[in-house]
Amino acid sequence: TTYPLQFELTPTPAARADAEREAMLADPGFGKYFTDHMVQIEWTVDEGWHDAAVVPYGPLSLDPAASVFHYAQEIFEGIKAYRHADGSVWTFRPDANGHRLQRSAERLALPKLAVEDFVESLKQLVAVDEKWVPSADETSLYLRPFMIATESFLGVRAAHRVGYYVIASPAGAYFTGGVAPVSIWLSTTYSRAGKGGTGAAKTGGNYAASLLPQEEAYQHGCSQVLFLNSTDGAYIEELGGMNVVLVYRDGTIVTPDSDSILEGITRDSILQLAEDRGHRVERRRVSIDEWRDGVASGDIVEVFACGTAAVVVPIAELKGDGVSIVSPVAGPDSLTLSLRAELTDIQYGRRPDRHGWLTRL
Ligand code: COI
Repeated sequence: TTYPLQFELTPTPAARADAEREAMLADPGFGKYFTDHMVQIEWTVDEGWHDAAVVPYGPLSLDPAASVFHYAQEIFEGIKAYRHADGSVWTFRPDANGHRLQRSAERLALPKLAVEDFVESLKQLVAVDEKWVPSADETSLYLRPFMIATESFLGVRAAHRVGYYVIASPAGAYFTGGVAPVSIWLSTTYSRAGKGGTGAAKTGGNYAASLLPQEEAYQHGCSQVLFLNSTDGAYIEELGGMNVVLVYRDGTIVTPDSDSILEGITRDSILQLAEDRGHRVERRRVSIDEWRDGVASGDIVEVFACGTAAVVVPIAELKGDGVSIVSPVAGPDSLTLSLRAELTDIQYGRRPDRHGWLTRL
């Protein structure tokens, strides 16, 4: 296989009309609309990665025996493209997502895509669907790269045929309330991932495991579910689709360290910005008792959720069976909202990119 891969651009039929696209961009919500094209790259055990192409967006044709349908051999990523004031389009730390996709691939016994090819796949898609990058405040084009086992074979083993795709979806706020504080449901019945499991990989199965507890969360008026570690249920892990961070009165920032949670790139970036400001950052085990007692004593002054889709959102309350931990409200002067503003200022080109996190698409 030669790197970087050469992408073939399929001549496309007329894309969607400008008016239709503009209507979608005016109120994108999250994950509802998809652009005119997608990327696809084939992998086989004999040929490696080949046939990279940008093609019209549309249904995939897969054999019903394709092993992804049966054994969930699948991984994905989430990364955004941002329009700057001068019209240029940028993405944020794509190499970090590319490396994480490789780590996920390793755990799911999928082939590794070179980071250069990963970044190129984003560039290729945004080049043809550039008009789909919205420009209103706090909007972006959410890119969803994913890899699936496409081999038709019912034996349980790593597939010999795999497909990698990238689709794109204009995005506004992930939560309907925007950055309004959210309530979180503490699941004490279900775990998201176990010791030695796939918790650190970005794979569909982890999200599938979160859906039933997520329904429970909705029933209790909460927008996300918090999982505890599976062995003793004493330590906090992460939410269904994002990481969690606690802020102490003395400025210390604490976030769970665990080998069964996803290493969030938004979380890593926020923690870096906090460190730059002189905050002490601790990545360590955090018990649910520490959260409860810290809020009760006033030692914990803010709690927030973070992820690529949601960015940074304050957590107002943690509810569970016989549990209610009400966090102090993150006001306009809170560290939560100030770190959020600093991160988005960098992403949208309103502040110098001193860490070199931006890549032009
Ligand atoms: C993200 O991109 O932030 C995710 O983790 C995926 C999902 C919550 C939309």
